[in-house]
Amino acid sequence: MTIPSVTLNNGVQMPAIGFGTWAGMDPAEWHKSEPWLATALKAGYTHFDTAQMYGTEKYIGNILKDAGIPRDKLFITSKLLWNYHSLIEESLDTTLKDLGTDYVDLFLIHWPQMVFYEEGNIRPRNPDGTLKVVESPSFNDVWAVFEKLLDTGKVKSIGVSNFSIKTLEELLKTAKVVPSVNQIELHPYLAQTELVEYCKSKGIVVTAYAPTGYSQVLGDPLIIELAAKYKASPAQVVLAWHLARGTTAVPKSTSEAHQKENLNLPTLDSKDVERITALDKGLRICNKPTETGIICGWSVERMGW
Ligand SMILES: NC(=O)c1ccc[n+]([C@@H]2O[C@H](COP(=O)([O-])OP(=O)(O)OC[C@H]3O[C@@H](n4cnc5c(N)ncnc54)[C@H](OP(=O)(O)O)[C@@H]3O)[C@@H](O)[C@H]2O)c1
Repeated sequence: MTIPSVTLNNGVQMPAIGFGTWAGMDPAEWHKSEPWLATALKAGYTHFDTAQMYGTEKYIGNILKDAGIPRDKLFITSKLLWNYHSLIEESLDTTLKDLGTDYVDLFLIHWPQMVFYEEGNIRPRNPDGTLKVVESPSFNDVWAVFEKLLDTGKVKSIGVSNFSIKTLEELLKTAKVVPSVNQIELHPYLAQTELVEYCKSKGIVVTAYAPTGYSQVLGDPLIIELAAKYKASPAQVVLAWHLARGTTAVPKSTSEAHQKENLNLPTLDSKDVERITALDKGLRICNKPTETGIICGWSVERMGW
């Protein structure tokens, strides 16, 4: 199948499979991303998913500078660092400088919780070890600034990430612009059917992160059975499932062979799509709350998870 594009609620086209560029938590490792980012570009990805938190923006900038691809043939997503809620345009300017571009196609609020600003520390902690979050500004306040960014031309579209039905409802109470995208953890073990349907009903495109479901999902007997049926790999089957449900995905791979594979997907029968959806266990594999139900400083109830 040729990878389709989806039309966002503002008419902007977004390739349904993008390339994830998270390079791990260790800043000392981030520079090692450049070779695998370069092979992804060579493999044909035009949609790159990054974030200020990932530290990969300048390496994406480096590979794009050398490639000479017209800017309008690329789709670049970035996400606001969660403690830069009072320095939004300034931090966007740093992102644009690092990426070597005048605009991003999509700018997301990375998490609904806002974190205490401490220079040089993106994970400040409370004495009990939990992430030090702040109630003000709220994500509604940050969204109002995002809406104004649309007028600057530095962002073509705006959206959110890690939002639930609960937090989207809260956001929509004050929003003048409906988010174009909600990027969430989504894979067959966390099918999020209710949230996906809710987003569709509001005209919000869903993007799956951790879309493969890692080895847990890729090793599931049904996924392996279907991989044999479609003469595809387990990852291709899972990514094809996302597209069949009308959701988009940003798989990441450091392997050139996997990068190519993830752009060449089978078309699944609707019955197989339903069988994969039925694997849902409500299981978060990537961003797991603690045993006491805390995720990045908020309770799962506050998150609406
Ligand atoms: N918004 C958020 O809060 C948030 C959170 C997490 C991630 N993200 C975004 O989502 C992207 C993807 O998430 P992720 O990296 O956690 O998960 P992922 O893309 O589902 O999984 C990456 C893992 O899958 C393997 N893989 C990829 N393609 C494969 C294939 N065809 N066959 C076998 N293994 C394959 C990779 O190994 P190899 O390298 O060996 O191929 C890697 O270990 C991130 O890079 C980031 O851009 C966003």
